[in-house]
Amino acid sequence: MIIAIDGPAASGKGTLAKRLAAHYGYRHLDTGVIYRAVAHAMLSAGLDLNDEARAAEVAMTLDPGTFDDPALKSHAVGSAASVVSALPKVREALVAFQRQFAAVPPGAVLDGRDIGTVICPDAEVKIFVVADPKIRAQRRALEARSRGEAADEAAILADILARDERDQNRSVAPLKQAPDAYLLDNSHLDIEGGVRAAIDIVEAVRAGRQRV
Ligand code: DC
Repeated sequence: MIIAIDGPAASGKGTLAKRLAAHYGYRHLDTGVIYRAVAHAMLSAGLDLNDEARAAEVAMTLDPGTFDDPALKSHAVGSAASVVSALPKVREALVAFQRQFAAVPPGAVLDGRDIGTVICPDAEVKIFVVADPKIRAQRRALEARSRGEAADEAAILADILARDERDQNRSVAPLKQAPDAYLLDNSHLDIEGGVRAAIDIVEAVRAGRQRV
C-alpha cells in the first residue's frame, strides 16, 4: 500500500508520515529532503539557485546517503529548496527515484507536496495535511527554541507564507490537494491526535476496500 501525505511547510506532515510508517511497518520517504539536498549542494558550490541545467545535474547525481545531513534542516536550505523545486528539470530528474522507493513492498509512506497529484497518483490513501499558518509559525519557533536557537515568530510566519505562495503557484507540480485526498486540519490537534486521525483515515479506506 502507498500512503501519500502532502501539505504545506511546517504543517506537521513529516512527523505524521514517520509515525504512520512506523505504525504500519512501511518505509518512509521525506521527499522534501531530496529538494533540500539539491539546494544545499547548489549553495555549497556557490551556484545560482535558478541555474536549471546545473540544478538538474545535481539532482541526477544525488547521493541518498547525504539525506540525513543535519545541515539540510535549516530554514535557509528549506527556502532555497522551495526555489530549486520550482525548476521543471529538477523535478523531472527526481520522479523515478521517488516512484521506485514507493513501489517496494509491503508499502511506503511518502510525504511532500505532489505525492498524491504527480508522483503516486494511484496511491491507495492520500491525506492532505493543513494547519493555520500562525500555528505553524508558533510550532516552528518552539522547535527552534528547543534546539537552543533564537526564533523570530513574525519572520518565520513571513517565510512560511512566502514558501506557501511559491509552492502553490509554481507552474510544475504545484502544492494542491488531490481530488481524492482526505483533508486533515491539525491546527487544534497535538501530534498524537493527528496520528490517530490519520490512522482512522487509513483504516476507513482499508475497510471500504475490503467490503468491495
Ligand atoms: O517539506 P520541506 O520543508 O522539507 O520542503 C522544502 C521545499 O521543497 C518546499 O518548500 C518545496 C519543495 N518540495 C517540493 O517541491 N516537492 C516535494 N514533494 C517536497 C518538497
